[in-house]
Amino acid sequence: MPHPLPNASDFLPGPVLMLGAPGAGKGTQAQLLMAEFGIPQISTGDLLRQHRRDHTSLGLLAEGLMKKGEFVPDDLVNEMVSERLAEPDTEHGYILDGFPRTLNQAEWLDTKLVAYMLPVVAICINVDRDVLLKRITGRRMSTNGCIYNIYTHPPKVDGICDVDGSKLEQRADDTEAVFHERMKAFHQKTSAVIEYYRSHGGRFAEVNGDAPVEDVTHNIRKALLALRHHPDNSE
Ligand code: AP5
Repeated sequence: MPHPLPNASDFLPGPVLMLGAPGAGKGTQAQLLMAEFGIPQISTGDLLRQHRRDHTSLGLLAEGLMKKGEFVPDDLVNEMVSERLAEPDTEHGYILDGFPRTLNQAEWLDTKLVAYMLPVVAICINVDRDVLLKRITGRRMSTNGCIYNIYTHPPKVDGICDVDGSKLEQRADDTEAVFHERMKAFHQKTSAVIEYYRSHGGRFAEVNGDAPVEDVTHNIRKALLALRHHPDNSE
């Protein structure tokens, strides 16, 4: 059972980065924290999928790469994030979900945030590979962004979103074959990002993501509180 914690607004240390392998629960947790803190979840995967639906040149390029489980080039993703961070709803903080996922993106973000003097903290969600595979192949999404899972979090009516009754879809990259490619990219490129934040003392925490959703949320909140009071983050 989760334990009560102090008011959330008292312990947000700054912008929060959600790191972790495909299916670790970054989106699920970011959505819960967004609702609790009233700050936006900025998912680079969702932004890229929106570009695909809008048939922009970035969307067309991203489509081919995402289907193969490869990353979209850093400069294009950085520019997309830069535009999103310029929107007024980020003024009181935000949760970055799936960004940065290369060292270049992490360094770019640091350079960008220096101008605003905002500390940024990274939460890494750890889950074993066999659990990740089941989560990815069992995931179903609604057009409004709700996340379900046929094994662990099924909708009340099979294939239908509980919230708006729309038909649930499976992401094109949620196949076993593409999962292995996404894991390869994660190990080759994102592991370095995790080490980057780990080496910065008070900017990093890890949580076990192989637990009920509410327990993972509770542990993320506890980790944020600890980072908020870390000596490196005091003014
Ligand atoms: P993106 O959409 O970000 O995919 P990802 O990083 O692979 O992560 P996922 O969305 O698959 O998983 P998640 O951790 O959010 O898990 P979720 O909460 O949904 O990126 C897609 C692609 O876009 C990339 O491959 C790349 O091509 C491109 N891209 C994106 N960002 C980029 C960047 N910065 N640079 C370059 N390219 C980029 O949960 C998964 C499932 O598990 C769900 O069904 C959920 O219900 C279930 N679940 C979650 N938590 C639990 C739990 N605790 N217990 C049981 N089930 C759970």
